[in-house]
Amino acid sequence: MAAKTTLEKLFQRRLLFVAGKGGVGKTTTACALALTASHLGKRTLLMELDGAGRAAYLLGVEPGPIGIPRRAGPSLSVMSVEGSAALAEYLEIILPVKRVLQAVFASRIYQYFVAAAPGLKELMTIGKIWYEADRMDESGERRLWDLVIVDAPATGHSLQYLRMPDAAQQTFGGGLVGRESQRLVDLLADPHLTAVNLVTTAEEMPVNETVEMYQQIRDELRLPLGMLFVNRLHRAAFDASVVDQLDRKLRKLQNRRERTIVAEVLNRGREELGWSRINELYLQRLANEVDMPRIEVPFLFAEEFGLREVHTIVTAIAREASAAARVGAAHGRA
Ligand SMILES: Nc1ncnc2c1ncn2[C@@H]1O[C@H](COP(=O)(O)OP(=O)(O)OP(=O)(O)O)[C@@H](O)[C@H]1O
Ligand SMILES: [Mg+2]
Repeated sequence: MAAKTTLEKLFQRRLLFVAGKGGVGKTTTACALALTASHLGKRTLLMELDGAGRAAYLLGVEPGPIGIPRRAGPSLSVMSVEGSAALAEYLEIILPVKRVLQAVFASRIYQYFVAAAPGLKELMTIGKIWYEADRMDESGERRLWDLVIVDAPATGHSLQYLRMPDAAQQTFGGGLVGRESQRLVDLLADPHLTAVNLVTTAEEMPVNETVEMYQQIRDELRLPLGMLFVNRLHRAAFDASVVDQLDRKLRKLQNRRERTIVAEVLNRGREELGWSRINELYLQRLANEVDMPRIEVPFLFAEEFGLREVHTIVTAIAREASAAARVGAAHGRA
């Protein structure tokens, strides 16, 4: 079915990053993608980096302990990841003597080292992601997860994460750390295994940042790109003439209560029209400057975001994905 094509292609990868400017909807989009993948039967792990458990909350479960998967559906789990915890976990694997470890963790030198070593936490976090993406299940015959989706932090910090394995490989060369880093580089750079997806809203600052991030990922980091999600889009279902008409009606109204209500509706109408125009403008800019298949997600009016809203976004993404597949096919890159 066409509706599945673009997303199914994306889900053939093993590792999907969801990155973008702060507050644009990365966690919401990552949750919607994770739900979609699990509905398609993929055993999916959603990893939230440096988050406060929002991903778990949006999927309707309590956040579990850091670094441990928490069940959020028939083939869906969610996990919070944090750099120092990932380092501690790694040290536990290579230094299996509990007493020695406790002494290491308690020492001031260790605390100082973790705080001061540039990029160490980021490197360990990517290591943890790699570990989950490569992890075998109890039978030892197949992987534990078909798909790992990473809800990445805001732009600058995401780039630091994505840059780290390559930087570490160049710094440490052929030694142990260099070799481990090379494995991470190989995973991140393989377009069959990994895709970096971007989320943005169609407004000036987020779009500027998205265009910059897109260029850096393509030209400097040279990592495979996935899809661009344009979130919180306003599409007014009326034009300026309707607003003008209402404005004329308002002028004629005598009753104060009626005037208040109509004035409020008029304000909302103007606002919606204003946002629709801004969104239209920046969608055009994205189309011109970011060569990635695009999925448009509508603005949802909700007092509080929860699982129900994420489900609405899942439906919107599925509908859009079929349109994106048609556009992609027309350009020969579905
Ligand atoms: N389609 C949408 N319509 C309306 N509101 C939305 C939509 N998507 C997300 N939001 C709201 O936007 C806010 C930011 O969403 P979210 O937490 O997913 O962003 P984020 O990029 O992960 O933020 P951060 O950078 O802080 O991690 C939330 O309040 C969320 O409820
Ligand atoms: Mg978030």
